[in-house]
Amino acid sequence: MGARNAFQIIVFLSCILIFGTMSATSLEVDYYKCKQICPQAEEIVKGVVYNYVSKEPGLGAGLIRMFFHDCFVRGCDASVLLDPSILNPNPEKLAVPNNPSLRGFEVIDDAKSAVENVCPGVVSCADIIAFAARDAAFILGNISYKIPSGRLDGRVSNADEVRKALPAPFHDLTVVKALFAAQGLSTNDVVALSGAHSIGRSHCSSFTNRLYPTIDPTMDEGFGYFLRGKCPENAPVDSVVTQDFVTPTELDSQYYQNVADRKGLFFSDWSLLTSGETASLLNDFRITPGLFEAKFAESMVNMGNIAGSGQGEIRRICRAVNY
Ligand code: HEM
Repeated sequence: MGARNAFQIIVFLSCILIFGTMSATSLEVDYYKCKQICPQAEEIVKGVVYNYVSKEPGLGAGLIRMFFHDCFVRGCDASVLLDPSILNPNPEKLAVPNNPSLRGFEVIDDAKSAVENVCPGVVSCADIIAFAARDAAFILGNISYKIPSGRLDGRVSNADEVRKALPAPFHDLTVVKALFAAQGLSTNDVVALSGAHSIGRSHCSSFTNRLYPTIDPTMDEGFGYFLRGKCPENAPVDSVVTQDFVTPTELDSQYYQNVADRKGLFFSDWSLLTSGETASLLNDFRITPGLFEAKFAESMVNMGNIAGSGQGEIRRICRAVNY
């Protein structure tokens, strides 16, 4: 038996094993490899993401947030990637929670072109976002998991839907939990995924309501004064600050320590302390080595299972629907 045949048999057997543990959705681990659609797809995306994120870790944070913002609106269907067009002047991308803060679009564009060069027309942009977020979690947090794929790209993207679906930084725990529950996600998912606020940045405008005219009593006062120094009142420019001042580029459990110290940027972060259930989870994540990493991985897969309309296509370029 040639080496090539032996390799194909190994791939075939591992695909059978993985299919044996498939979830109820139609997504499948190693979909492009097992179905022989584009066996190299995930490796190609990983190479592109690694090139960008190793130079600019903030883009990794952007990609993880992009996956969240994509999946919560119409399911994980790359609707967040569509540029405004004559037929659709107001896509999700222009909504306040995305514009101008969402970043990493160029990484997805390059990953898509690299994949198209090898396997044209078969790998969805929605899957590329999911792979890129997974790869960013590995680079920034050494968090490793398999993400099911086989998503389609949607043809609808509407800015008005974004605010209704996504939690905002001023929301309390009841609202945040309800918005996650509307997507089929649990309180565990809320707490685990919030740990993404251990990387990346925030614009001052996302939390200055907690600094002026008085420092929000739910925030550590010293931290409030520190943030005032970074975000002056009525500043002409909306500056950015890092989410986690202790380990800014590591996707780790430091977020839970920050929240416990009342040094999270957002009211929604603080609100995890306001119920016994979330406070106890938060404490577990804070003190148990490896727990955050394991639960974050599980919850990213759960988020990736948020189903859209089931209708769609494989876009030729990620910024526009096919014509
Ligand atoms: C629980 C409710 C959540 C709220 C209210 C929230 C809100 C926000 C806000 C306001 C920002 C700052 C945006 C800016 O001004 O630049 C931000 C940043 C970020 N969020 Fe969340 N978020 C939530 C959950 C999540 C989830 C579930 C994830 C992903 C798993 C996530 C990942 C991130 C990341 C990585 C950043 C930094 C982005 C960057 O540096 O470009 N967030 N979030």
